[in-house]
Amino acid sequence: MNVTDSATDAPLLDIRNLELRYGAAVAVRDISLSVKRGQLVAVIGNNGAGKSSMVRGASGLVRPSKGRVFFRGEDTTSLPANRKVRRGLVMVPEGRLLFPDQSVEDNLILGAYAHGGLKGARARETLEKVLTLFPRLRERLAQQAGSMSGGEQQMLAIARGLMGEPELLIIDELSLGLAPKIVDQLMAVLAELNRQGLSILLVEQLAAHALAIADHAYVIANGHVVRHGPSAEIARDPEVMEAFLGKKKSSA
Ligand SMILES: Nc1ncnc2c1ncn2[C@@H]1O[C@H](COP(=O)(O)OP(=O)(O)OP(=O)(O)O)[C@@H](O)[C@H]1O
Ligand SMILES: [Mg+2]
Repeated sequence: MNVTDSATDAPLLDIRNLELRYGAAVAVRDISLSVKRGQLVAVIGNNGAGKSSMVRGASGLVRPSKGRVFFRGEDTTSLPANRKVRRGLVMVPEGRLLFPDQSVEDNLILGAYAHGGLKGARARETLEKVLTLFPRLRERLAQQAGSMSGGEQQMLAIARGLMGEPELLIIDELSLGLAPKIVDQLMAVLAELNRQGLSILLVEQLAAHALAIADHAYVIANGHVVRHGPSAEIARDPEVMEAFLGKKKSSA
C-alpha cells in the first residue's frame, strides 16, 4: 500500500554477491544470503571458510570490496557498524570481545551505546528484559566480566548485543570454547528469542546444534555458498553430514 509495506516484503538482511578482501587476500569470494523477518538462519562451514569475514562485511566492520548489503530494504553497504546498530543490525563477535576489566553492568551499558547509553526509561526496560532472560547476569552485575566462566561470558556477549535493541542479531560462533551442556542452554535461549520475534543469523561450527534450531541454513566453503535450503534438508544432505557433522561413510 505504501513505501513501508513494500519495504516489509523485502528480506530483513539481503547480502548480494559479497566479496571481501584483506589486502590482496580474498576471504569472501561471492556470497549471497538473506534473512527474512522472523527467521533463524544458520551459517555453517569449516575453519577459514569466510564466515566471520562475511559477518564483518554484513555488520559494517570491514568494507566489502564488491557486492551489496541491504538491511530493511536499504542499501547499507558503506555504513559503519555503529550506524547499522542504530538501524537494528547488531553483531555478537567471534570470541565475544567483552571488556574483561569492566563490570558486567558496564559491558551491558556499552551495548546500549549506539542508542545513547542507559539513560532513558526504554533502555532500563531493555536491561530488565535482558536480566530476566539471563538471571545469572543479574546476580553478577558488579562482577568483572573477565572473571566469569566461558558460558557466562557468552551470555553477557549476547545480552550486550540485545541491549542494542536489534531487529537482527548476528552471532558468530556461539559455541566457541564452551561445554556441550552450556551450548544447549544458549541455543535454547536463542530459539526462545526467535519465538519472541527476533530474527537471528547464527554462524556456528557445531552444525548439528545450529541446524536443530534454524529454519534455513547456508553452507559456506572457500568464500562461496555451496549449499542452502531448509535446515532439515541440509541436515539430511550426505555431503554436508560428511563434512560438518562428523559422520563417516560406512567404512568405520
Ligand atoms: N584480519 C585478517 N587479515 C588477513 N586475513 C584474514 C583476516 N581475517 C581472516 N583472514 C583470512 O580470511 C579467510 C577467512 O577467514 P574467516 O575468519 O572469515 O573464516 P571463518 O569461516 O570465520 O573461520 P573459523 O571457523 O575459524 O572462525 C581465512 O583464510 C583467514 O586466514
Ligand atoms: Mg570465524
